[in-house]
Amino acid sequence: MDEVKSIEQRINEIRETVGSEKAISALSGGVDSSACTVLAHRAIGSNLKVIFIDDGLMREKEPEQVSEAFRDLGIEVDIIDAKDEFFEALKGKIDPEEKRKAFRSTFYTVFGREVLKSEAKFLVQGTIAADIIETQGGVKTQHNILEQIGIDPEKGFGFKVVEPVKDLFKHQVREVAKELGLPEMIYSRMPFPGPGLATRVVGEVTAERVALVRRATQIVEEEIESLKPFQAFAVLLSDKGTGVEEGKRKFGEIVIVRSVESKDAMTAEPTQLPWEVLTIISKRITEEIPEVVRVAYEITPKPPATIEYI
Ligand code: XMP
Repeated sequence: MDEVKSIEQRINEIRETVGSEKAISALSGGVDSSACTVLAHRAIGSNLKVIFIDDGLMREKEPEQVSEAFRDLGIEVDIIDAKDEFFEALKGKIDPEEKRKAFRSTFYTVFGREVLKSEAKFLVQGTIAADIIETQGGVKTQHNILEQIGIDPEKGFGFKVVEPVKDLFKHQVREVAKELGLPEMIYSRMPFPGPGLATRVVGEVTAERVALVRRATQIVEEEIESLKPFQAFAVLLSDKGTGVEEGKRKFGEIVIVRSVESKDAMTAEPTQLPWEVLTIISKRITEEIPEVVRVAYEITPKPPATIEYI
């Protein structure tokens, strides 16, 4: 096995590649893009433009928390409000791959606009080893693998791609992020997919349905946080179920709770959550989100299921 490169080596490589040109990094709030952004900032300083595209599909208060964490490290983040554009693109889309496609093309439209404005020649990307393996294996089409979606990185926006952690798996990226001084909230945070909460809304992704799954996700994260699962979240189904309220039958939403244990997200096992925790989550979701009448816990490993729902 090749020896893992040091942080200094990674920084030097970025500096050699980018030289005195400008580069741009789109933060997602996750550990991969965060680590890459700090590495690139250490390499080229203010020649790095850092943006955070607010697609409306983030977890509670995520844009604010991310820009605060980076400001503490002396890195300014430009938040780009593109919520309406994403919801417009996702309107009426039911099919999972259609939703991913709509997300990707909107991401590239918004991102392309920002790249042109920044005059960057290099794009810093948080691609990690599992992204490459799974995309090549046909398991997923990652939005951060340009070639796979037909964008020639040399021609696309006229920039080149820098991928400082593409040889690492998630747990190794966390170590790099910690060493770089990123806060625990970022380096130990659960993985969160590029298309955000859109991967957890079965059926049409609307602002209202995303708001509902965001509230349910917040509850799941709060109740499960101390157990430190690999990934835990809520999913909103498209089918409804019957419940009862004040003695009357009520047709309402169904929320699935998913929690998995994994090392690198290539395979996963459902977390054996304590019954008391599940009971509290179910009670809180149905009490705090009155539209929801049923909460179920998912027990499928990966494979045959994937971790996310689209
Ligand atoms: P799946 O659902 O394929 O997820 O078992 C494996 C891991 O990847 C995350 N995931 C994504 N991450 N863009 C990303 O950056 C995506 O399109 C995407 N889809 C899934 C997922 O959260 C899990 O950790």
